[in-house]
Amino acid sequence: MRTASGTQRVSPTGPKGNKTLTRPLGGGGSERWAEAVQYASYRLLRAGVASPRYDAEELAAHVLGTDRGRLPLLLHEVMDSHLAEEFWRLVAQRASRIPLQSLLGSVGFRGLRVAVRPGVFIPRPETEVLVEVAVEHLRTQASLPEDGGPPPESRLSARGARFMARRRGPNVLEIGTGSGCVALAVAHEIPASKVWATDVSAEALHCAASNATRLGLAGRVVFLRADLTSAFGRRAGSAFDAVLSNPPYVPTAQLHSLMPEVSCHDPVRALDGGPDGLTVVRRILKEAPRLLSPGGLLALELGDGQADELLGDEKTVDWLGRTGMEILDPVPDLAGVPRVFRALKKGAVS
Ligand SMILES: C[S@@+](CC[C@H](N)C(=O)[O-])C[C@H]1O[C@@H](n2cnc3c(N)ncnc32)[C@H](O)[C@@H]1O
Repeated sequence: MRTASGTQRVSPTGPKGNKTLTRPLGGGGSERWAEAVQYASYRLLRAGVASPRYDAEELAAHVLGTDRGRLPLLLHEVMDSHLAEEFWRLVAQRASRIPLQSLLGSVGFRGLRVAVRPGVFIPRPETEVLVEVAVEHLRTQASLPEDGGPPPESRLSARGARFMARRRGPNVLEIGTGSGCVALAVAHEIPASKVWATDVSAEALHCAASNATRLGLAGRVVFLRADLTSAFGRRAGSAFDAVLSNPPYVPTAQLHSLMPEVSCHDPVRALDGGPDGLTVVRRILKEAPRLLSPGGLLALELGDGQADELLGDEKTVDWLGRTGMEILDPVPDLAGVPRVFRALKKGAVS
């Protein structure tokens, strides 16, 4: 409702609320952050945003150059007109269902701040489980050879290959790196590791490489533009102690029913897993076993119900058995959804 004084009146508590909140439309008002955040929450709620209060607080904290934990200390302050303008611009964008992480420009992932940009898949909290599984495996795999074995034969430059060969520790491959969050978290948490990461998307690889530089991990991860494992020739065999991926796994027919934040902003090739969602997953299961060293881990993030689907697929289970892979129980995410499919390469660890 617009009033004669040029202000807009809305109920801060939604249609059932009995208080009204006045938001100045132009700059120079005397609105406090507390009122603004409350109004913004309601506006986001009406726009169908899943966590309106959280998002409003994150945007306010972002504009104020603080973090959400410290925001309560500033909520009583009157808004500066420039900051108010910036805040309401971001709230309007969020109400149009642009993802919060895109507006903030980064996302927290396993304690790292990973920058995101348009055209690159936004890291999700459930993918932290994939990293947890990998890190736990690499830390407990006590019998890794001292120097981590020879570096995989890849399209790496001769200088890069020599650099990676000198490093000690396990070799890890991530397929479909996107922002680089998984590869970078593993490199960060296993300081001795040598990590290779592939993607077909040039935008993703640029984003991942710039994240690596910003996080001081540029010398630790090699990014390669490649279709799945195609950067690693026949002679690369058995070079990796872990192969990880969060591949596209949404069935094509479900793409249009995803939340607008996902369907309109994440790149289709990061999501589209083909008719049953498992097209890329099956290709990885076919290609990865030859790259794993004895005791090596294959870990893939999957959608709800897909781990059971794979385990019920005789052809896949048979192939994994024939290639020396032992299937382990999938690992659930925090919501209890079996999220990470795991298989170990059998054989003595050299
Ligand atoms: C779901 S996103 C995961 C990104 C990131 N690893 C994460 O967990 O946030 C899948 C990624 O796989 C990449 N991708 C899709 N098909 C691929 C292929 N055939 N080979 C390599 N990467 C692929 C996409 O470009 C996208 O970056």
